[in-house]
Amino acid sequence: MTPIRVLTGITTSGTPHLGNYVGAIRPALATSRQPGIESFYFLADYHALIKVQEPARVQRSTLEIAATWLACGLDPSKVWFYRQSDLPETNELTWLLTCVAGKGILNRAHAYKAAVDRNRAEGQDDDYAVTAGLFMYPVLMAADILLFNAHKVPVGRDQIQHIEMARDFGQRFNHLYGGPAGTEYFTLPEAVIEEHVATLPGLDGRKMSKSYDNTIPLFAPRATLKKLIFSIVTDSRAPGEAKDADNSNVFQLYQAFATADETAAMRNAFADGIAWGEAKQQLFERIDAEIAPLREQYEALIAKPAYIEQLLRDGAARLRAQYATPLLLRLREAVGLRDLGKQVATAKTVSTQASLPVFKQYREADGKFYFKLVDGDRVLLQSVGHESARTAGQLIGRLKQEGGAALQQAETVAVKLGEELIGHLHEGVELAEIVEALAQFAVEDA
Ligand code: TRP
Repeated sequence: MTPIRVLTGITTSGTPHLGNYVGAIRPALATSRQPGIESFYFLADYHALIKVQEPARVQRSTLEIAATWLACGLDPSKVWFYRQSDLPETNELTWLLTCVAGKGILNRAHAYKAAVDRNRAEGQDDDYAVTAGLFMYPVLMAADILLFNAHKVPVGRDQIQHIEMARDFGQRFNHLYGGPAGTEYFTLPEAVIEEHVATLPGLDGRKMSKSYDNTIPLFAPRATLKKLIFSIVTDSRAPGEAKDADNSNVFQLYQAFATADETAAMRNAFADGIAWGEAKQQLFERIDAEIAPLREQYEALIAKPAYIEQLLRDGAARLRAQYATPLLLRLREAVGLRDLGKQVATAKTVSTQASLPVFKQYREADGKFYFKLVDGDRVLLQSVGHESARTAGQLIGRLKQEGGAALQQAETVAVKLGEELIGHLHEGVELAEIVEALAQFAVEDA
């Protein structure tokens, strides 16, 4: 049985905090220990350059994040652990994908759109201070994923759109350059949303996040950890007054580290009016009990940067040999970056294959307006005649938008959209092929 490949990227733009630990690191390492899984963890340092243009911070963050994952139990002899920029294939694949990625799709990426919206709100030019790096972010991320044909990518909700884009670019590439089913170049990845892992509140009660500056660094020294925990915002209920566990940041943090029994006991203590100082003290002890041994590991690792450097380089070297280099050889061949000494006899068939399905509109001698859906050399669908070019065009618009879901096959080769007869299947064509061809448009306009 081939293992399920699970891939996780971490942007090297900050210092890991408790929210990262509970929401990403701890569950990811738990998953990696399950049987039948091949895990890929990498430091997304190319991505970091989009946000952080301070070299020392990129370097420091890369070291801290690498040391954090190792300290938390990542075993580089059992999982792939590497740095994005150690794989030149990432860049090469980014370009190949750039050339199939729809610009219109990238226009709709949340991060880019948010930047444009902010500029509009401030009366600036749409693309003011937007780099092409931010715009291309999803293509680089797709390359990370498709380079290893990952099946599953655990992500937060904000990243789902990026996985959908990776699927789209991979699918387009497969469609343009791939052979029959089963010989595609790319596996289409799925986003995995961890529903049951907690989102931790930060010091101010909003989600713990470096963008809110409300984080508790995972490996803050014990004294700092204590100070930060005691600075968590609470309400002003006095000792002895019953406290609302469900609306308390202190309780939520406690729950993320405690067993079910400990949590139940803390819930009772809240109802009994535990003082905030006492609750925070218990929270501090509970977190420190879990973190202290890891912190010790972390400090030992941080003191050995050359060792970590070697580990990462070694991971990348093995990965390149096993996956990345052979894949890029195939992809270069696929797109036509080829050895000129080896002439390919099938140049013609390749060029006809290399086309997306298109609608062709034309007028017949009967004065009516028609269209065909054509995929390469093959006519898939032949429309009925329309009185005007506009109605024909509107129908094409609907087919592109709605996709094949509403299509039905009526008497033998007739095709209906809802109740309306719109055309017929060309000889030897099955409705499923039309549905699949329409999916290409639907993805484009999603
Ligand atoms: N964009 C991800 C984040 O900000 C990091 C990332 C880069 C990533 N490449 C990836 C995550 C590939 C998963 C797969 O969190």
